[in-house]
Amino acid sequence: MRKTTLILVLFMSSIVCWSSEPITDYRNPKIAIDVRIQDLLSRMTLEEKIGQMNQFVGLKHIQKNMGVLTEEELKTNTANAFYPGVSIRSLEEITKNGLIGSYLHVLTIEEANYLQSLAMKSRLQIPILFGIDAIHGNANAPDNTVYPTNIGLASSFDVPMAYTIARQTAKEMRAMNMHWTFNPNVEVARDPRWGRVGETFGEDPYLVSLMGAASVKGYQGNLNSDDNVLACIKHFVGGSQSINGTNGAPTDLSERTIREVFFPPFKAGVDAGAMSIMMAHNELNGIPCHSNEWLMKDVLRDEWKFKGFVVSDWMDIEHIYDLHATAENKKEAYYQSIMAGMDLHMHGVDWNNLVVELVKEGRISERRIDESVRKILDIKFRLGLFENPYADENQTMKIRLNPEHRTTALEASRNSIVLLKNKNILPIAPKIKNVLVTGINANDQNILGDWSAVQKDENVITILQGLQMIAPNVKYKFVDQGWNPQKMDSKQVDKAAELAKSSDLNIVVAGEYMMRHRWNEKTSGEDKDRSDIYLVGLQEELIRKVAASGKPTVLILVTGRPLSIERVLDNVDAVVLAWEPGMYGGQAIAEILYGKINPSAKLPVSIPRNAGQIQMIYNHKPSQYFHPYAVGSSEPLFPFGYGLSYNTYKYSNLKLSKANISKTENITVSVDITNMGKMDGFEIAQMYIRDRFSQVTRPVKELKDFARVSLKPGETKTVKFSITPEKLTFLDKKLNPIVESGEFIVMVGSSSQDNDLMKDSFFVKE
Ligand code: BGC
Repeated sequence: MRKTTLILVLFMSSIVCWSSEPITDYRNPKIAIDVRIQDLLSRMTLEEKIGQMNQFVGLKHIQKNMGVLTEEELKTNTANAFYPGVSIRSLEEITKNGLIGSYLHVLTIEEANYLQSLAMKSRLQIPILFGIDAIHGNANAPDNTVYPTNIGLASSFDVPMAYTIARQTAKEMRAMNMHWTFNPNVEVARDPRWGRVGETFGEDPYLVSLMGAASVKGYQGNLNSDDNVLACIKHFVGGSQSINGTNGAPTDLSERTIREVFFPPFKAGVDAGAMSIMMAHNELNGIPCHSNEWLMKDVLRDEWKFKGFVVSDWMDIEHIYDLHATAENKKEAYYQSIMAGMDLHMHGVDWNNLVVELVKEGRISERRIDESVRKILDIKFRLGLFENPYADENQTMKIRLNPEHRTTALEASRNSIVLLKNKNILPIAPKIKNVLVTGINANDQNILGDWSAVQKDENVITILQGLQMIAPNVKYKFVDQGWNPQKMDSKQVDKAAELAKSSDLNIVVAGEYMMRHRWNEKTSGEDKDRSDIYLVGLQEELIRKVAASGKPTVLILVTGRPLSIERVLDNVDAVVLAWEPGMYGGQAIAEILYGKINPSAKLPVSIPRNAGQIQMIYNHKPSQYFHPYAVGSSEPLFPFGYGLSYNTYKYSNLKLSKANISKTENITVSVDITNMGKMDGFEIAQMYIRDRFSQVTRPVKELKDFARVSLKPGETKTVKFSITPEKLTFLDKKLNPIVESGEFIVMVGSSSQDNDLMKDSFFVKE
């Protein structure tokens, strides 16, 4: 039987089976969800309830890993899993018996429909909720649109684009029967050694909050139609500033910093309606996040009134015992986590039995279990899974990778690429006919970035292909450096250096390696943290030797994390930071190099010169550089908000609508921006504020508004920014929100560095 026919038969039989049963409340879509939940709960056994709180990895995923992974590797590998000693058959049985609520790492519609068909054989036919890391499009599964990763998206400062990408991703997910994305990552990134910076929207809490909230709204819509998915804000909290920059290491942060820097994007996500949140791997001030009652109950539920469910991260409840050692065994770890507020367990087979034991022993009440199950069922009802548990295999490719989504991916990519240096070499002049192209990322799918599977070649435009497509009359000499920066061959480096001498221009495409199918070789992305932030391997040598040809040299960086290129910056004429630009990255980069597109993106993170400068952030406290480093600079290599265009933009006429306000009034700030160049362009104009004197120390500047302004050559536009009491609020000595009277400095311009900013000030009166 063909798979589609099989699905149809299973679907029809489920309808027959439903209609032959008496009409019961929970199956009736016309009655209120609360009533349906209550009815369903009253029919569920304790085992079924606890199963709803559990998740497994997909069967194909397990099959693939059983042959390859050792049990030793399993302990630290957070991308792959299998359950030693447990057969596929027994997982199928558990599913058929209605004892599992969710799956993750299911990568095809066929497998999702198959697992769902097993759940439809269970007593109560509660549908499976499929979760997946659809971080930049549903890229982890094949044949989906792959957009730039979040750090690139943040570089565009294009908040509506974040919404659009999330909306399109939701449609592609539902087209393959996936219901829950583990995104947006709304962690504030403050350490480039950490491999996951690419998943984030950068270092500024305001920008991260806006991007995160727009993504949540895009994914979820009103959470009641068949093209909405559940969003998951993660990881709560602090993992982006671990004490040594490595993923999951301890985090030690004052409550002030947690509340001022790390909480706001999560609060914005909750306010935007996010109905799931994932806890962070790390311990926070001595308490693992996964057993942290303050986070899960006091803050999330009581302060923020979060109504969704909390999910654990990969084996992190187990790590309360086998890593943090604040529980003596797994069962105790489950106990601590549930009692602290955990609702859903990612992932594994021991949960069901041990949690049932905890309830039977009277340590956890069934009422506590019901609280979690209610929230999980609520999502399944809202998403319509009881009515439509399957996706249509005949329709799926009409939605995935459709032309509209591809166009968005290309546009997002164009807007995410940051031009960092240009010594009059870009756009590439028509007289350039002979170009050397080399470097690990020149002709590789690595442009897709972390959290992407290998995609069909026809759906990816590499950088070399993009150049050939956009400027087909140029002759390209390509010297392959392999994909692995740690295994470069000096002979190939020398070959490129030799050929560079006879080119008109050289393009070196350097950076990190992020593709997760080569988990052990990745240098950036999840679990790939570094003790320095220079280019890995022979890449600097390659750049130096190629540039020594005396021919103009352009450096393109493909990377998830900020990299320092200080040691080769003077060797090259131009630098383009492409981040992880997605499936059309090669085209977008080529269009920028040849001047078909004017670069507009700006940095959502500061780029340090070296790891020793960390923490390097623009919104630091006033005393941070009171004593500058005795040896070496205290300045970043490139500041937050910085990025070049082929135009220059002039800022003039800065005006404030009022010079004095009360604590409840707003101010409008306006500025004229003129395109002084010859191309159409977008300028990302930024407004920062500083509270001049305050009862606790405040940052030297904080981004409070920005605008992407399109300008034709010679055109001037007046841009308005808003200052509201909320934007002036900070936490007083006792951590209570307050607006203080006194002077506030307003800074407006093209980046966060003082030379790029115009200044004025206003007073808040008592
Ligand atoms: C990551 C999460 C991710 C989960 C499922 C974990 O290792 O930390 O961000 O959602 O795996 O893939």
